[in-house]
Formats: sequence, C-alpha cells, structure tokens
Amino acid sequence: MGKVYYVSKHVGLGLLVLAVTALVTIIALSIAYDKERAKNQDTLGDGAADGTTPVPTPFTPKEPWDRYRLPVSLVPVSYNVTLWPRLKPGADGMYFFTGKSAVVVRCVKETDLLIIHSNKLNLTSFNGHHAVLTGLGQATAPAIQNSWLVVKTEFLVIQLRSRLSVGASYVLYTEFKGELADDLEGFYRSEYTEDGVRKVVATSQMQATYARKTFPCFDEPAMKAVFNVTIIHDQDTVALSNGMEIGWFQKCKNSMTTFEPTERMSTYLLAFIVSDFVNIKSTQNKNLLIRIWARRKAIDSRQGDYALNVTGPILQFYEQYFNATYPLSKSDQIALPDFNAGAMENWGLVTYRETALLFDPIMSSTGNKETITTVVSHELAHMWFGNLVTLQWWNDLWLNEGFASYVEYLGADYAEPTWSIKDKIILSDVHKVFAVDALASSHPLSRREEEVNTPAQISEMFNTISYSKGAAVLRMLSEFLTEPVFTKGISSLAVFLLKFSQLFVCCQAVENTPGMHIPHTVHDIMNRWTLQMGFPVVTIDTRTGSITQKHFLLDPDSVLDRPSQFNYTWFVPIKWMKTGVEQQQHWLLQETGNLIVTPIDWVLANTNVAGYFRVNYDLDNWHRLLSLLNTNHQALSIINRAQIIDDAFNLARAKIINTTLALTTTKYLSKERDYIPWESALRNLDYYILMFDRTEVYGALQLYLKKQIQPLFEHFKTITANWTKVPTGHTDQYNQNNAIGIACSMGVQGCGELIKSWYRQWMENPHHNPIHPNLKSTVYCSAIAFGGVEEWDFAWRMFKNATLASEASRLRSGMACTKAPWLLNRYLEYTLDPTKIRKQDATSTIHYIARNIVGMPLAWNFVRARWSYLFKQYGGRSFSFSGLINGITKRLSTEFELQELMKFKEDNLHVGFGSATMALEQAIEKTTANIKWVAENKAHVLKWFNDESK
Ligand SMILES: *[C@@H]1O[C@H](CO)[C@@H](O)[C@H](O)[C@H]1NC(C)=O
Ligand SMILES: *[C@@H]1O[C@H](CO)[C@@H](O)[C@H](O)[C@H]1NC(C)=O
Ligand SMILES: *[C@@H]1O[C@H](CO)[C@@H](O)[C@H](O)[C@H]1NC(C)=O
Ligand SMILES: *[C@@H]1O[C@H](CO)[C@@H](O)[C@H](O)[C@H]1NC(C)=O
Ligand SMILES: *[C@@H]1O[C@H](CO)[C@@H](O)[C@H](O)[C@H]1NC(C)=O
Ligand SMILES: [Zn+2]
Repeated sequence: MGKVYYVSKHVGLGLLVLAVTALVTIIALSIAYDKERAKNQDTLGDGAADGTTPVPTPFTPKEPWDRYRLPVSLVPVSYNVTLWPRLKPGADGMYFFTGKSAVVVRCVKETDLLIIHSNKLNLTSFNGHHAVLTGLGQATAPAIQNSWLVVKTEFLVIQLRSRLSVGASYVLYTEFKGELADDLEGFYRSEYTEDGVRKVVATSQMQATYARKTFPCFDEPAMKAVFNVTIIHDQDTVALSNGMEIGWFQKCKNSMTTFEPTERMSTYLLAFIVSDFVNIKSTQNKNLLIRIWARRKAIDSRQGDYALNVTGPILQFYEQYFNATYPLSKSDQIALPDFNAGAMENWGLVTYRETALLFDPIMSSTGNKETITTVVSHELAHMWFGNLVTLQWWNDLWLNEGFASYVEYLGADYAEPTWSIKDKIILSDVHKVFAVDALASSHPLSRREEEVNTPAQISEMFNTISYSKGAAVLRMLSEFLTEPVFTKGISSLAVFLLKFSQLFVCCQAVENTPGMHIPHTVHDIMNRWTLQMGFPVVTIDTRTGSITQKHFLLDPDSVLDRPSQFNYTWFVPIKWMKTGVEQQQHWLLQETGNLIVTPIDWVLANTNVAGYFRVNYDLDNWHRLLSLLNTNHQALSIINRAQIIDDAFNLARAKIINTTLALTTTKYLSKERDYIPWESALRNLDYYILMFDRTEVYGALQLYLKKQIQPLFEHFKTITANWTKVPTGHTDQYNQNNAIGIACSMGVQGCGELIKSWYRQWMENPHHNPIHPNLKSTVYCSAIAFGGVEEWDFAWRMFKNATLASEASRLRSGMACTKAPWLLNRYLEYTLDPTKIRKQDATSTIHYIARNIVGMPLAWNFVRARWSYLFKQYGGRSFSFSGLINGITKRLSTEFELQELMKFKEDNLHVGFGSATMALEQAIEKTTANIKWVAENKAHVLKWFNDESK
C-alpha cells in the first residue's frame, strides 16, 4: 500500500503565522505488541482470543475455526468470480452487490473440514447449507453435514460427512449478497458530483483482509490462485479488474464484462471497479497497454497526462532494475474520489487517491507533482516486489513496504532526473522514523509469524517503522554492498513466496564479489538491524580516535522493557571523511573501536547519511564543524548539512549535548539557500515553537528567526524578479515557500502585505486565482489567519467548488489557520458531516485544526467530547486514527495537561482506543518528557534567543 498522507507533504511553513505547525508528514505510529493493548483487548473487542492474558504468548484454541490462520489441508487453484454491484440503492435504501464464486481447491492433507474466509456476506442457502461442493474429474465430493459462519475469525466452516482425498480437486460454489457500503473496505461505494449529478462508483480495497468481505475466499497472501473475473454492470458504465477485459455480453439493460485470467496471485491484490470514468492511454514496447482512468472532467482537463508521462519510464526502469519484464498485458491506474490509503498496488489495476495521481498543469504545485511521481513509483515497484514475489505472511510486511519505499526514489529519479529526489529520503523517511524509533516504546522491524494473527494485528503492521525504517535499512544495505551487488541480489530472487531470511541468503550469494569486504554475513549484519528495535548513536572523540556506540533513546530516563538478544549493539558501517577527504569505510562491530585521526582534522561521519544511526563528536570537533558551516558550508553535502542539524537537536533532546550547541547549528542558516537543511532546521525548531508559543520565549525566538530568514526572503525576491517568476530548481520552489511562510509569521517587512494583496485579488475575481500553485498552501493559510469570516467563507466556497482534489486539500488545511475560535468550532462540527467534509478527510481536518495554537484546545475538547462517536466511525482498523491522537496532543507540556490526558484515557477505557492505543501511550510518554524538557531548558533557550537576536 502507499503511504497514508495526513498532512500534505509541502504545506510550507506559512502555518507559522499562528505560531504553529507540525510540518512533518505524520504517519500512523501504531505498534503492535504493547502491554496496554493486551490489557484492553476485552474492551477493544478486536477478537483477540487471549483478552485476559497480559503476555503475548498466543494460546492455541482447540477448534481450527477459532484460530485466525487457515488450516493447511486445502489450497485454492483458481476461482470463477462474478460480481454485480448495484449503483442505485435497493428498496430498503441499502446499496448492495450480489455475486457467485466457484473455487477449485486441491486437497493436500486429509480432512473432513472445509474452512474458507467469509465476512459480512449473506450466503444463499442450498439445501440448508451455505455452499455446494462437487468433485472434479474422478473425485466425488462427500456430502455436507453442517455449515456455519464464525464471526470472530471471519470463517465459513463446512463440516463434511467423510474426508476429502489427498491429491483430489473439488469445486466449492457459493452465492452471496453484501452491502456496498461507503466504508472504504472490501467492495465499497465512492460518491462524487459531476455537473450537479450525484454519481456512484463501486470500487475496492482488499489489503489486508477485506477480500473476504467481497466473496468467500482463502484470504491469506500465500494462498495464491488464478482468478477468472466477470462483472455485471449498467450499459453506460465500464468495469475494470486486474486482467484485461476480453468479453462483453449484453443482457437486458446490463452488460457483462469478462476479464482474462489473472496471474497466480494473492487475494489482497484483487480489484473490481465499476464507474463511468474515462481514460487516456499509451502503449509501450508495442504491446503493453498503459491507461490512466479518472472522472471525465479530470481527464478532459488533462489531469491524467503527467501520470501517463511518467508511468512508461518508471516501468522501464524497474524492468531493468529487477531484470524481469512487466508480466501483465496492461497497466491500469485509477484515481478515486474516496480512498483510505494513499494508493494500493492491485496487480494490473492500481488505485489512488486523486491527489496521488492527478496533476493539473495550471492548478497543481511542484509538490503535488513530486507526490504523484513518488507514489506511482512506489506502487509500480510492488508490481514486482510484492505482487510477483510475495511475502509468506504479514509479519514480514516491512520487507515489502520498506523495499518499495526505498526504490520509489530510484524510479522517481529515473523519471525526473533533475530533481535530486534521492536526497529526499533523508527528510521523508530517515528523520521521520528516527523520531519514532528513538522511543522506548518502539519495536523491531521483524516480527515472528505467530505474533501477527488478527486483522487488527495485521493492520498494525502498516506503520512508519515498516515503511520508513524498512526503507532506511535497505538503503544502508545497498550502500555498503554497493548498488550493483544489491540489485543483483534482488533480481536473483527466484522464490515467489518470500520470507525475509531468504532475501539475505540471496544477497549472501553475491557478497563474495571481488573487492567486497564485509566482516560478517549479510544475514548476521542485518539481524542486528531488524531483530532489535532502535538504532545507535556513534560517538567519535577526535582527540583520541576512540569511537563508541550506544542505543539512542530520546528520553535517557526511559525504561526499556524489551530485552535484545544483541544487547543493543549493532554492526555499524561507518563511511566518513577527514578534512574533506573520504576515508575507507569503518565497521564498528563492538561497543568501542578506533579511528586514526589527528586532533586538528575535522571529522564528519555518516557521509551521504548512508547509515541508519546518529553521530556525536567531542566538543572540539563540533566547533570545527560549526565553523566550517559558517565559513564554507558547501564543503559538506546538502544532506550532511541537514544531518548535522538533526543530529544536534536530537542529541540535545536526549541530553547528550547542550541545547545551545544544537541551536548554534542554525546560525549558519543566514547563508544557507538549500531546501533540505532549512527544512530540517525548521522541523526541529518546530518543537521549540510548540513548547514555547504560549510563553515569553516565543518573542525572542521570533526575533531570531526573523533575522535568519530575512536573507532567504530577499534571495527569493531577487531570483523571482519580485515574485513574478518561478525559481528553476525543483527544491528551490519548496524553499521559496518556507521563506515566505516564515518571513510572514516572523513579521518580515512587506511579507504580510504581499500575501494579503494576492488573496484579496483572488476574492475580487474568483475565476482567476493569481497565486502560484507552489505558494498556495502558504498563502491560503496566512491570508485566512490574517483575515476574518469573509476570507474564511470565500475559502469554503472555493473548497466546495474545487474540481481538483489537491486544491481542495490546500483549502481544507488553510481554513484551519483562522484565529477566530467560533470559525474553528464551526469547522470542527463540519468534520462530523460527510456532506461537508468527506469521511476520508475528517481526522486529518481535526488534526490541522489542532496545529493552530488557537485551535488546539478546541480540537482537544472536541475529540474528548465525541470520542465514542469518533471511535465508532474510525477507530477499528483505520490507519489515520493514531495520527489524530498524535496531532491533538503535540503541544501538551504542563502537569495540568498531563492530568487531563490521563483522565481522558481513564474516562474512555470502556470505549477503547483501537488503532490509536499505542499513540495514546506515546502521547503520555511524550507529554511527560515535554514537561521535563521545558523545565530544564526554558531559561537557557530564552537567554540564547535573546543574545542571538540582538
Ligand atoms: C479459470 O480460467 C483458467 C484458464 O482459462 C482455467 O484453467 C480455470 O479452470 C478457470 N477456473 C475455474 C474455477 O474454472
Ligand atoms: C468457470 O467459468 C467457465 C467459463 O464460463 C466455465 O467454462 C467453467 O466451467 C467455470 N468453472 C467452474 C468450476 O464452474
Ligand atoms: C444480511 O442479512 C441480515 C439479516 O437478515 C440483514 O440485516 C442484512 O441487511 C443483510 N445484508 C444484505 C447486504 O442484504
Ligand atoms: C507529457 O509529455 C508531453 C510530451 O513530452 C509533454 O508535451 C507534456 O507537457 C507532458 N505533460 C505533463 C503534464 O508533464
Ligand atoms: C537477467 O536475466 C537473464 C535471464 O534470466 C540472465 O541471463 C542475465 O544474466 C540476468 N542479468 C543480470 C544482470 O543479472
Ligand atoms: Zn507499498
């Protein structure tokens, strides 16, 4: 699955007008395996069998249908599936679909029980049973004795009068009816309005466990089969599925579309869509059909062109990278008005949020374009890694998602070579996941198979650790093996059901390449990074040459209750340089080691941020690096400049270095023009803003930042010829946004007037928006913050009329910036009304409001007052739910607020916290740390900002 975006990646710091903002894209920080969860399982009702046992040892239920895993006695070979979604409600007002399925199963172990997944389906009765079983070929099927549904484990169980024979094949036939709900799960309904007409789309999201909600099936990734799909639909609609459409039949007013049989594939990759969408297409290598599908309006205004342009090159790149041709005859990609995740890699029919696929040449920003390139690249990587080669079970999900999250940058770089997109992984993945993985409540990448069973546990695997740490660690592997060796290992994967251990056996085969010096097997090295949580901080003392490693914990007082078999030491590959000269890679294999240095060199370790660790130095070397930044910052690479800042701020948070040393890394920024170091600094300063924007420190901070941003603001004013041109560099366009956003909120002369006049011009002529798309997020937020109800209502009207999803999303986030409490409260109420704010956007809207200093207490009250409703709507399995808790608790930093948070937890124990359980624990942990941090640092920080802003 693609990432879930809560906060648009390039919102820009315009939000700082309100002295707010969390810029960082926040991805669900859900973590399985916590004690609270085990304790709460009764109330959660997620069906965990061992609700009362606080230990994670799974107790084995007696009956096979009480377990969550399918027995191994039967394997599916192929299915005939026919589905008929009704795009108009039935007599009772309910939208529904009907269907029938015949699955050929082979018996591999004698059994008189047939167990298959089925959830929320009403099955037609045949002679009092839920299915019909017949023998295939010579086989005769035993009669059915009894059949029943098990709601908890989502099984249909069929008890036979006698046993099935090993080697024989049978056909299990079912007919069923299900609700076509707007719940974004399984076969579901999406709605939109076009030319005043309400339209309904039937579409699907199967990952991870929703195929069973569409038809009875063996719904586990290793249970691959061939699917022969037929869809019945209205004549004036088009049906799509994984395979190419090969037949049409007319039946009364209905059409029946049949599709070519799929490859052998997992159920979670199936897709079924009925809509009146249209497409644009091209062909590649003479016979591969590439199509982009969307609403007619979107295609007519050429919003699909960009995705179509990049798909070909990206597929080409991966064919080369994996040394395997794209295995299907077509590649469809479709943009849906309602979609929960960012995108989903259904084989041959990839589904996207509109913002992740549609680019409007006039209305969209560079950031929108980059999102499309990287998400498309991510999903297309899965066509090989994930779909062709599939994980045996969900516990290894990190390998699937980590891999796609790493190579998405390579594919995107191939499509857009001028963007330096590969550097972005530092901000979007490495730094983001460092923040989570530095907590005592983190967890290892790899999970044992027995630990992941229930749908809720599976859903929890889709978290930042799997995606971003997975990406960072695989990138490190590729860096120390070198890319050619790594890709050779990847492309030699002949196994189609993968366990993570096998990946590294493959790499092992190539690691004896001449010139390769690896101190241990790849397998042993990678175990250190995947079986224990966290990462080390490497400390280099340039006075003695000694180097040491230590588990990095953001809160040095936190208690680790998760032991590590490796005692929290890692095999650390250290690339480093000495006074500008690259040195040979050093492997730190124990707690301590030695480098050869002389005390006058400046040393920089983790060059190119190739490794997944932080670096600290003796004070002298820190000062040498700081002075280098001040005199000649370009002697260091862009990402290393960002790394120094991020390391310093985090080392300070962990009390390893002084807070003032960290702040000092931002002094050179008055000379910095590049985006990544600036962005890194602003994200780190964001913590200071959140902690202090309600105190006197804020005034001094504002003066300091104003001084630092002024030259950047002037720089962009000059290179854009007084804001009339667009900077040519890709990341310069982002940094221009930062410059304007910060300058305005810090009160740089001329900034506020500039923004207000742009917005005013737009209000005067709503059909002509003079604001450049790159700057819209920042400008909307600032102008609405400076303005009142008139500005807000104008934005709301533009939001309701927006025909481009990314424009709607910028306005939606901009409206959260108003300073008027009544407008914010009204806006919060709107999130409960799906005709005002789409369900998929409700939690992120609340989250935006909470970023606003005025909105934070309002959002917090709102969520507390309506917890049981919100929980019922979004709590169960939604990926975005934990992001909500994160968002509303970010600024909490007083004893009183901590008490309120604890009370919230207590008051709602009977409701539960679902997929936000872990986020709530983290919020309590973080608030406790915030209280301590503020107490210890407030005076120093105030003094430092006062001194430096003079
Ligand atoms: C699906 O189609 C394939 C190829 O035509 C065929 O071999 C298979 O038997 C079909 N599956 C079923 C359940 O009929
Ligand atoms: C699947 O559908 C095909 C084509 O309609 C048909 O020939 C075949 O018998 C069906 N298979 C089963 C097992 O029903
Ligand atoms: C399934 O059956 C139940 C019980 O009769 C009914 O309440 C529900 O609406 C049915 N679902 C559909 C989709 O028809
Ligand atoms: C797509 O490619 C065509 C041909 O190279 C180009 O003219 C067009 O501007 C591109 N469209 C977008 C949105 O990038
Ligand atoms: C690519 O695959 C082909 C055929 O499978 C093989 O002969 C060739 O050596 C592979 N190339 C690389 C670079 O691995
Ligand atoms: Zn993915």
